[in-house]
Amino acid sequence: MNPEKKLSEEKVFKDPVHRYIHVRDKLIWDLIGTKEFQRLRRIKQLGTTYLTFHGAEHSRFSHSLGVYEIIRRIIDDVFKGRDEWDEGERLVTLCAALLHDVGHGPFSHSFEKVFHLDHESFTQKIILGETEVNNVLKEEGADFPTKVSEVIAKTYKNKQVISLISSQIDADRMDYLLRDAYYTGVSYGNFDMERILRTMRPREDMVVFKSSGMHAVEDYIMSRYQMYWQVYFHPVTRSAEVILSKILHRAKKLYLNGYEFKYHPTHFESIFNGSVTLEDYIRLDEGVAFYYFQQWLDEEDKILKDLCDRFLNRRLFQYIEFNALLQLDKWSELTNLFKKAGIDPEYYLVPDSSSDLPYDYYRPGEEEERLPIYLLMGNNDIRELSRESFIVEAISGKKRTDHKLYFPLDLINDTSSKKKYKEEIKRILGI
Ligand code: NI
Repeated sequence: MNPEKKLSEEKVFKDPVHRYIHVRDKLIWDLIGTKEFQRLRRIKQLGTTYLTFHGAEHSRFSHSLGVYEIIRRIIDDVFKGRDEWDEGERLVTLCAALLHDVGHGPFSHSFEKVFHLDHESFTQKIILGETEVNNVLKEEGADFPTKVSEVIAKTYKNKQVISLISSQIDADRMDYLLRDAYYTGVSYGNFDMERILRTMRPREDMVVFKSSGMHAVEDYIMSRYQMYWQVYFHPVTRSAEVILSKILHRAKKLYLNGYEFKYHPTHFESIFNGSVTLEDYIRLDEGVAFYYFQQWLDEEDKILKDLCDRFLNRRLFQYIEFNALLQLDKWSELTNLFKKAGIDPEYYLVPDSSSDLPYDYYRPGEEEERLPIYLLMGNNDIRELSRESFIVEAISGKKRTDHKLYFPLDLINDTSSKKKYKEEIKRILGI
């Protein structure tokens, strides 16, 4: 491998979460300048959350730089010179940190669900395909792009490197928790990251935390738990997400049925018909999506037009607690009544659920194995966190799921037509 090429002068980015992001490596500087990475400026980190917390306008660009900076501090300030750390892994780790989310599209989750796309496979394609990112990485060696892609895909030979970027306590989560707490303005996402970083130690195949850092790690786990329920699964954000998904569904369905759009959805065409190329995908960003939502306000199709108006002008759906799987009778009754009331249940009666495990110890063979957090005890023993921490033990392995049903209250309240059915719907929904 080439000796690491350094910039003649260090570059810094001002960052509200980490104060400064430091770049000394030419490779990192060149990656930041690629068009695929710059595109992340035009994709929000938290999708529709800005409709609930108006500050949440930050981009995936800022999060990606943040993850890079956390890794840089771990490697250059904490791990450097320690026997168990191989300095030869430095650049591949930094590049993987910077690029771990490079394949995200606009409004990630809704887009992926509706169009069966997968941002992880686009991340791989951007790193390995014919892109500016790939050209920059190749300067480091012909097999360097593959190494970076393996770290992100969690197949890389050095598990220590993988656990820095994806485990139950990794640079990705530490950055997004702090960053999302900062931009939403909530007070519960904070924890002492500096303290956690100082107590990290490289071990064969993993990263451990000195037991003196346990309380800072507990704080991180609690912050994660709080952020999930207070911010990430906020029902108002999910309501906006539901509407967004339905816009995409409707537009795709109309397109496939040969509907004549007043304004042809050129940028969406290959996504709608399943022939999307990397080039098409890279050209899509949230600005492009919003442009079409504006255009579709003028469409003849009442559903598409109405959903776009709701999303742009924040006329969101109302919700109740409801588990459609446990209340099948009620569910089919509601579906029928919606049809009779002239409100298409496919777009206007939407069940949605979310769930999270605050911390999970290692359960081999289960579908999503999660690497546990290990503490390094005074006598050099290694102990799994929930065995030492009462707080973590109390919430370990406890999955919480929350089910809701979304509907447009304004349409149901409009009793100028189909009054009888709408009254019945209100009675069943308990509103
Ligand atoms: Ni990330």
